Amino acid sequence: MYARVTGTGSFLPGNPVSNNDLAARGIDTSDEWIASRTGIRSRHLAEAGTTSSQLGLIAAQRALEMAGVAAEEIDLIIVATSTPDFIFPSTACIIQGLLGNKGAAAFDVQAVCAGFTYALGIAEKFIAAGSHRKALVIGAEVFSRILDWNDRGTCVLFGDGAGAVVLEAAETPGIMASALHADGSQFAILNVPGQISNGQVTGDPFLRMDGQAVFKFAVKVLAEVAEEVCAKAAIATTAIDWLVPHQANIRIIEATGRKLGIDRERVVVTVDRHGNTSAASVPLALDEAVRAGRIQRGQKVLVEGVGGGFTWGAALIEF
Ligand code: ACO
Repeated sequence: MYARVTGTGSFLPGNPVSNNDLAARGIDTSDEWIASRTGIRSRHLAEAGTTSSQLGLIAAQRALEMAGVAAEEIDLIIVATSTPDFIFPSTACIIQGLLGNKGAAAFDVQAVCAGFTYALGIAEKFIAAGSHRKALVIGAEVFSRILDWNDRGTCVLFGDGAGAVVLEAAETPGIMASALHADGSQFAILNVPGQISNGQVTGDPFLRMDGQAVFKFAVKVLAEVAEEVCAKAAIATTAIDWLVPHQANIRIIEATGRKLGIDRERVVVTVDRHGNTSAASVPLALDEAVRAGRIQRGQKVLVEGVGGGFTWGAALIEF
């Protein structure tokens, strides 16, 4: 049994916030600095109090609508997020309740910017094993909540949003191959090292990053994992129709495409308008390319992500 993508959806909160808007808000930065190093021109930032479940719900509803699947038919809901609404219950359970679904298995996956590829890989295995038939896989983040707005080296890089796919059991591919990896020895180069303990936040509640170390690690593993899933599916990386990589930085995306021999025109890029939306970045980019008519049925699409942990993963999808 294969897992086939039958619907995609996404949602971005509010209006775009440009690099110049950030500078006007008092951050000591410029459009030239941000755009030349990252390719980011604008991002969407949710209003205070907005939750990942609110963003994820809309993305999920749009994916269900495209698939022509009713919420009550779904038997598995996985949400990838590092900004859950609460410590518990899971954001997946909250979205399940808002959708009016009862009885589906629902849980969150925490693999930061690789979270969507993790959630997709897990859902694929549930469907391939025959235990579940219709899955909702969501990446939803309100990263603006965990940014230190006094740290210009990180706060300009991220945005908020959500994306989702519906996966259904099918006789033909579907997801052709997937791979998931982590290296916990790299936890120090990207993290939010705080925690809630005895009613207090202890440690640092904001995102901290060694940008240059992250850059090098990301380019290396994104190329490796793309080659791994293509080898599993016995397809050359150059035969992929579309690469949908995690949207962290245009220079990481371009370096990965070059290493894999994939032309710039076949790489989906949203980082210029979305910034880095962590677990939401891949499904947001996928949905945008599907709705624009760029990604077509029958094409081979490689999705891949990398994030804190460090974690990384990929899936090769026959669309
Ligand atoms: N505006 C203006 N100047 C800035 C800004 C800013 N927003 N941020 C930092 N600077 C300054 C620094 O203070 C420093 O100034 P100094 O030389 O006077 O001390 C100078 O710019 C250079 O700072 P670096 O941090 O060395 O800049 P670098 O060239 O490494 O670029 C960047 C930083 C863009 C973060 C880069 O390292 C990068 O892209 N790394 C990848 C990280 C990434 O994409 N992370 C996303 C999350 S991880 C993930 O999704 C996998």
